[in-house]
Amino acid sequence: MKFFIDTAEVKEIKEAASMGLVDGVTTNPSLVAKSGRKFKDVLLEICDLVKGPVSAEVVSTNYDGMMKEAREYAALRNNIVVKIPLIAEGLKAVRTCHEEGIKTNVTLCFSATQALLAAKAGASYISPFVGRLDDVSTNGMQLISEIVQIYDNYNFETEVLVASVRSPMHVHEAAMLGAHVATCPLSVLLQLCKHPLTDLGLAKFLSDWEKVPK
Ligand code: E4P
Repeated sequence: MKFFIDTAEVKEIKEAASMGLVDGVTTNPSLVAKSGRKFKDVLLEICDLVKGPVSAEVVSTNYDGMMKEAREYAALRNNIVVKIPLIAEGLKAVRTCHEEGIKTNVTLCFSATQALLAAKAGASYISPFVGRLDDVSTNGMQLISEIVQIYDNYNFETEVLVASVRSPMHVHEAAMLGAHVATCPLSVLLQLCKHPLTDLGLAKFLSDWEKVPK
C-alpha cells in the first residue's frame, strides 16, 4: 500500500519523508491557501523533494479551462498528476488527459457510480473522500469496499486513493480492503506508529536498564 501525504507544507513533507512515509503528495486549493504561498512555488519545491506522484488541482470548472491548467501543470514536472473534480466537464478533461498521456487524480468522489465513470474516462487515480462521508453519517469505508470490488470486477487500472483520511482506523480499513493508496495528513501518519503498550514497554525496558550493573 502506498502512503501519500495530504499537505502543501514542505516542512511536513520533509518530516514524513524522513520516516520513509512519502510515496507521493496530494494538495488541494484549501491546503494551498493555508500554506500562504504561491502555488507554483510550492509545487515546484515539492516536486524537487518527492519523486513520486504530486497532485496539483485545477480550479477551472469548464473543459477548456481545465485542459489549459492540466497541460500547464503537466509541462512543469513529469511526476505531476492533475487533480480534476468529478463533474461532467471534469470527465471530458480526464478523457483528453488520458489520450495525451497526462496522469489524473479525480477528486471529490462520493459515490461508487462516480468512481465507475472516472475509471471509464481513464483516470489514473480516484479519490473517494471517506472522512467527509463519515461527517454526514454515511459510511466512507463502505464506499471504498464498493469501488475496490467494481474496479476488480472489470479490471480497471485506476488506482483507489483513499482521501479525507482522519484517523488510523481509516488507513487500517483501507489496507484491509486492498486500496492502492491512502493520502493522510502528517498528524495521521504520526498516529499510525503510536501504541500505548509500545510507550509503556519502552519505559519499563529503560527503567530496568538502570538496574543493570555498569
Ligand atoms: C484529497 O486529495 C484531499 O486533499 C483531502 O484528503 C481532503 O481531506 P479533508 O476532507 O480532510 O479536507
